[in-house]
Amino acid sequence: MNQFDGFEDLESDRFVTPELKEHEKMMDKTLRPQSLEDYVGQEKQKEKLKIFIEAAKMRREPLDHVLLYGPPGLGKTTLSNIIANEMNVNIKVTSGPAIERPGDLAAILNSLSENDVLFIDEIHRLNRTVEEVLYPAMEDFTLDIMIGKGPGARSVRVELPKFTLIGATTRAGQLTSPLRDRFGVICKLELYNTKELSQIVKRSAEIMSVEINGNATNEISRRSRGTPRIVNRLLKRVRDYAQVVGDGIITDDLANRALDLLEVDKLGLDGVDRKIVLTIMDKFCGGPVGLDTLAASTGEEKITIEDVYEPYLLQLGFLNRTPRGRVLTKHAYEHFNMVYLFEERNQGG
Ligand SMILES: Nc1ncnc2c1ncn2[C@@H]1O[C@H](COP(=O)(O)OP(=O)(O)OP(=O)(O)O)[C@@H](O)[C@H]1O
Ligand SMILES: [Mg+2]
Repeated sequence: MNQFDGFEDLESDRFVTPELKEHEKMMDKTLRPQSLEDYVGQEKQKEKLKIFIEAAKMRREPLDHVLLYGPPGLGKTTLSNIIANEMNVNIKVTSGPAIERPGDLAAILNSLSENDVLFIDEIHRLNRTVEEVLYPAMEDFTLDIMIGKGPGARSVRVELPKFTLIGATTRAGQLTSPLRDRFGVICKLELYNTKELSQIVKRSAEIMSVEINGNATNEISRRSRGTPRIVNRLLKRVRDYAQVVGDGIITDDLANRALDLLEVDKLGLDGVDRKIVLTIMDKFCGGPVGLDTLAASTGEEKITIEDVYEPYLLQLGFLNRTPRGRVLTKHAYEHFNMVYLFEERNQGG
């Protein structure tokens, strides 16, 4: 027995992963904001949505189709539920890989009521034949069904209730352009700044009834890679630590000690980030290095590097994307206490 026995997750593969872990789903529901008002940050997108929602409600029409995209854990699923709430309509939830055949989609579309929201998560993973059914459904709210086979086959047109499709994806670039073009509202979610993350920490701490001071709030926010899901996860683990080691109140000292123990560094970088940066530094002299090569040398998936690690390293200003590959900046060298020998690379930006 040691004093950290209450400290679940400590040895999990990757602590600051923005992906949702199985056991987090319950708590996740209560921490999820239910209205635009409670949804912190993403001000531009919120403002846009507020107007479109109000206009649609005034006309008693469904909201135009919405595409939400951005890295994992930034609030796409949350926002789509909020949109349905604000519209006072039902939401049906499914995902790209779950809809295997055109018939599956036809059945879902048929089950919708007027003005309902259909949420398709990971919409970039829809297969093409399913996608083709979606085009007329989105555009004219109709479904073309083939009846019979061979020369006698004919197509029958079925009217659908008017609905709003909300698609979410981490990879907008993988959407076909006919699909992308059918969305009237496109919202790109950005990584959150520390101030916004602090607001989320305060909100979540209140819901969880834990006391936390201002510095501890900032510390957790700074180390959360701009991601609400991570901020909530760190808060929960720091709360565990404060409960076992302290008296339950989260002070800066306790927060710092807990976060250090979790090996989340001052900027929220974890082992994989460090591996990526140090690989470029040591094996490729700071770059440029192509994504494929980088994936092979670090043993990480190309998609994961692109969707999860790179956005944050770019936001920190550690990495630049150039036509010839990824290049580390002076800033990255300084963070790792290494000497930067490539001043000329900075010339001209
Ligand atoms: N703007 C926000 N304000 C407050 N909390 C938020 C906000 N956005 C997200 N959260 C919190 O972060 C958690 C993760 O958000 P969500 O599940 O919506 O992310 P996502 O973008 O759908 O991720 P994924 O790409 O993995 O599906 C939510 O449970 C919620 O508690
Ligand atoms: Mg989601």
